[in-house]
Amino acid sequence: MEMEKLVSLCKRRGFLFQSSEIYGGINGFWDYGPLGVELKRNVKEAWWRDMVQGHDELIAPAGAPLPFSMVGLDCTIIMHPQVWKCSGHFDLFVDMMVDCRESKKRYRYDQVMGRWVSLAPKASEEEPAEPEQFFVTTMAELEEAEADLQTRALRLFKLKAKYKDRLVWHGEIVDLPSVDDLGKVVGPDVATPGTLTEPREFNLMLESHTGAVKNDKSRVFLRPETAQGIFVNFKNVLDSSRVKVPFGIAQVGKSFRNEITPRNFTFRSREFEQMEIEFFCRPDQSQDWYKFWRDRRFRWYTELGLAGERLQLRDHDPDELSHYSTGTADIEYAFPFLPSGEFGELEGIAHRGDFDLRSHMEGKLDPDTNPLEVQLNEHGQPVHRGSGKDLTYRDEATNERFTPHVIEPSAGADRAVLAFLCEAYTEDEAPDEKGKMQKRVVMKFHPRLAPIKAAVFPLVKKDGMPEIARKIYQDLRQHFNVFYDEKGAVGRRYRRQDEIGTPYCITVDGDTLTEGTVTIRDRDTLEQVRVKVEDVVNEVRKRLST
Ligand code: GAP
Repeated sequence: MEMEKLVSLCKRRGFLFQSSEIYGGINGFWDYGPLGVELKRNVKEAWWRDMVQGHDELIAPAGAPLPFSMVGLDCTIIMHPQVWKCSGHFDLFVDMMVDCRESKKRYRYDQVMGRWVSLAPKASEEEPAEPEQFFVTTMAELEEAEADLQTRALRLFKLKAKYKDRLVWHGEIVDLPSVDDLGKVVGPDVATPGTLTEPREFNLMLESHTGAVKNDKSRVFLRPETAQGIFVNFKNVLDSSRVKVPFGIAQVGKSFRNEITPRNFTFRSREFEQMEIEFFCRPDQSQDWYKFWRDRRFRWYTELGLAGERLQLRDHDPDELSHYSTGTADIEYAFPFLPSGEFGELEGIAHRGDFDLRSHMEGKLDPDTNPLEVQLNEHGQPVHRGSGKDLTYRDEATNERFTPHVIEPSAGADRAVLAFLCEAYTEDEAPDEKGKMQKRVVMKFHPRLAPIKAAVFPLVKKDGMPEIARKIYQDLRQHFNVFYDEKGAVGRRYRRQDEIGTPYCITVDGDTLTEGTVTIRDRDTLEQVRVKVEDVVNEVRKRLST
């Protein structure tokens, strides 16, 4: 599937729009249109329903007490700045980036690649002892990088394309060279060397200020993940809801990251939604729970239609793990905008040990000092200042006290929506009203996710058909999101619904008047069956739940 076709369908049919489009858009921000908002709500509701309200407690790891509890939270986007100091985000949530002094553009260091090149002399010229080498760079994906580098090298040496044989390439495409050679580097958007700065750290948290005075003490941050709101409320939930370890706290909400290079439609945005679970368990059962969540989360995507080779579960190699993690796995999808064979992360499932609760517990917060100021101990190391609150847990049965270990399945709602959109997009053929096969675009969403569950049509706008169709529509809309359409040939109406993924179309026709039945057409099989008007609601319900 070509990504451009999906992007165009998303705009044309109202799934996704560029934010602030009438002002030229703003990079890294996306709006969900009338159908997109329904799709995203369905994804989030399916997650909440399956993970929180109706989770599979009967398949918990052996030995774990059943049933285990899952509860929800909805925390604020702005929290005490100390939260981010203790979580490590204030000091460590950074990307290395380079700036271009000429183009004023900023690039993620790990995304700029390049290759050394020099110029062979013309046939009439003498070969210089040491031809000058330059490092031309590109931001293009690997498949297009070579062609882009050639274009850029030709521009650097002011050569026409027909002289491309004079380019002498040295070595392979590699990362930016060391600082000493920056003077020879040609940035990705300029034609002269030496305009890129040294790589430096760039914190991804978006900042604001609270209160009337704007100074260092009023600095606040828009959360870069929903997880920390859960950790800092661990004690509140324990004390208020009588849950017992093992249990999980779930949260769905907006997160913000000042991504240097937002790209690939909604995949890497600056404002996005996460669906996160922090699951608290006994340290000696944590490996079992890690496996449970890793498999459960993978199954969730397959149950909603992401089956097949485009979805994979990838365990991190030991050298990829954070120092506190004994296991992390990513659920990945082969998005069509990635080079063939590459996968993009949909969700990470991490065994985080007791790192987070410990970080928020240890040390003492002094209300008089600037919470973000780094204080050093006698050895010159930063003093870690947590809340000083006791976030341990006492097991009532054994009277043991311990800091629970945490398993964190952390999913992106927008990435899940994007994967479901990519997977659903299908081009095939369906018969028109004369029975002739015509090309169609059909979004084969899982019925749970489809923005509209059924559409109701009168075959023609006369003979009392619209009245019957509207009555069926009114009955259905009390239960499901449905659509009524009486405009145009019925074949075109079917195709309009196929294109937005409506699983069922119900048509009132001549037989409805004589026999009291309607047709129900299945979006995927194209099969049409007749059912009694009074059975339509139950039939649609039955089909949606299978
Ligand atoms: N609490 C752990 C955490 O936030 P993460 O891997 O940084 O982990 C979790 O983020 C998920 O959030 C990712 O797997 C992805 O689905 C989503 N996500 C992260 N950054 C994103 C971005 N810039 N745009 C869209 N989704 C993003």
